[in-house]
Amino acid sequence: MNDALEGAYGRHEGKRRNHTKGLGAVGYFVGTKEAADLSRSGLFAGDRIEVIGRFSTAGGDPSASDSERSPRGIGLEFRLKGGALQHMTMIHTPMFFARTPSTFLDKFLALAKDVHTGKADPGKLAAFMKQHPDQAAQFHFLETNNPPASYANTAFYGIHTFRFIDHNERSTNVRWRFMPEDGEKTLTDAQLARKPHDFLDEAFRVRLEQGPVRWHMIVTIGEPGDPEDDPTILWPSERREIRAGTLTLTSSSPDQISGAYNINFDPMLMADGIEPTNDPILSFRSSSYAISHSRRLTEVSSKSATD
Ligand code: HEM
Repeated sequence: MNDALEGAYGRHEGKRRNHTKGLGAVGYFVGTKEAADLSRSGLFAGDRIEVIGRFSTAGGDPSASDSERSPRGIGLEFRLKGGALQHMTMIHTPMFFARTPSTFLDKFLALAKDVHTGKADPGKLAAFMKQHPDQAAQFHFLETNNPPASYANTAFYGIHTFRFIDHNERSTNVRWRFMPEDGEKTLTDAQLARKPHDFLDEAFRVRLEQGPVRWHMIVTIGEPGDPEDDPTILWPSERREIRAGTLTLTSSSPDQISGAYNINFDPMLMADGIEPTNDPILSFRSSSYAISHSRRLTEVSSKSATD
């Protein structure tokens, strides 16, 4: 996977192989009693929990345009009382483009840059799209929804199904999303055409001058038969939902110098009370993030050793 990402975007030393362009942020999270009834995680105990976050744009190009019709991401590390960590690593589309890791791999193989022209072969991408109908829903979402105007106006979706475990070992299948208190706002076509190459970091910094930015964590409760191992399929919209907590971000800092730089936002890193399902994409992410993390940290340390 990481070789394929490098083939598509080049090898950028010391940087993430995916979601390469990013912005660090810090703040806190407070969970609700309603969520604590479903999960014994310290996340929902009602304490103020320290959070280190990182916003990003998808893809492995560190100088990608913020106007690209690509997913926006957020990685969150919740530092629970007693030292346990909970990660959530989400994007702004409600669904993913790959039902299995092979769809993900084939996409980045199709985007590989030709060594002579330095460009991807559009024919290969068209063939990929035909061979992998699971990518269609996310592609349609990105085509029909302009990119968000600011991270502060972006909803972030956990996409996978997780299990909440309560104090009696009762398990509930859930999906979650973070809804911005500032409201969701996408760029109009005219704004999109006028936007500078980089605007997301600045828009967030300017918004923070008015005060903290908040998202409400909404948890959807699954019912028997709702798919739990396919992140490309949405659950029916009438499912019961609860408000599980509020995320408050109070400051931001440039990616490379932020506390988020060293963090591997592996979504399989969960504290007691939240567990994974058998979603093949969720489990696959773990090894892939570890390899990207070790490549970038090794590159940074070998660079400073030779400086
Ligand atoms: C097979 C599927 C996937 C693969 C192979 C993959 C691969 C990667 C890799 C290699 C990184 C860089 C990790 C690092 O250097 O720390 C990354 C980052 C990221 N991915 Fe994935 N990913 C997959 C699925 C997903 C899904 C389903 C989501 C959203 C639900 C997602 C959201 C993100 C986000 C937000 C980041 C940036 C996290 C940060 O700021 O460190 N990815 N991905």
